[in-house]
Amino acid sequence: MQKNILVTGAMGQIGSELVPALREKFGKENVVAVGFIKDKEPSEEFKNSGPYESIDARNKEEIRALIEKYQINTIYHLVGVLSAVGEKNPNLAWDVNMNSLKNILDLAVEYKIDRLFWPSSIACFGPSTPLFDTPQKTILEPTTMYGVTKVSGELLCQYYFIKYGLDVRSLRYPGIISWKTPPGGGTTDYAVAIYYNAIEKGKYDCFVKENTVLPMMYMDDAVNATIKLMEVDKEKIKVRTAYNLTAISFSAKELALNVSKYIENFVCTFNPDERQKIADSWPKTIDDNCAREDWGWQHKFDLDQISIDMIKNLKNKLVK
Ligand code: SER
Repeated sequence: MQKNILVTGAMGQIGSELVPALREKFGKENVVAVGFIKDKEPSEEFKNSGPYESIDARNKEEIRALIEKYQINTIYHLVGVLSAVGEKNPNLAWDVNMNSLKNILDLAVEYKIDRLFWPSSIACFGPSTPLFDTPQKTILEPTTMYGVTKVSGELLCQYYFIKYGLDVRSLRYPGIISWKTPPGGGTTDYAVAIYYNAIEKGKYDCFVKENTVLPMMYMDDAVNATIKLMEVDKEKIKVRTAYNLTAISFSAKELALNVSKYIENFVCTFNPDERQKIADSWPKTIDDNCAREDWGWQHKFDLDQISIDMIKNLKNKLVK
């Protein structure tokens, strides 16, 4: 079947890299990128690389019009307000994250969308969740509004699968490290900001303590996981809330030491702010065996490979 794909949140951290990967695989005309960042125009390169539309994903009728215009049968709904911004503006986080998802789920049923992807996160866990090797099925009592929207969203997705047979699939992403978009809005963003600051200033004042450990993943692995999950046969998907997913866990200090291996004289200081509390509420390591067994998930990048690739690409981007 010809795939006609719609990606919302196309200019965000994941969208900026998932859209090119989908265009490469399925043809650029077949992937419609939907962005809505009022103060940030997409680059000419982005606009010229395939269909682009600017729409607020909370606006159901405008999304409906796009589904009809492009005969959409596959949706990646990536729009979301992340954890740190969400704590500053919980009402906005609820409004954007939940109302856009509900609209998309309803439209997906109405238009018999073949497959829908929606991202969950380690933020669905909370302080009462086991901290190490967090199982697939466990206590979900998040203490951030972002996390509350992720648990609610997971249950809503599963409900639409049970009630309407909608083929909706989801992953609980760990912190994602990537270079295309600047860090913004997330608690795990120190693991991105450290590279920007190391290259531009030779130093970084990290906003979590040096012994903070969180599960992380390189963007290339995250994109591969997402496309792989969406490509496997329906019968293989046994989890309809969201799959646990991880690659590697390390402390902020281990990260800083690793960056120092590749950037001479790099200095990292640690000055925790309100995001420490959010980081402390999330697990340190994740058991993602269900994903590995059900649909063959495997990560590729370890910390050294991440640092080498981040630094190479960021030097190209930032050093003129
Ligand atoms: N990276 C996200 C955040 O820190 C977690 O999903 O908000």
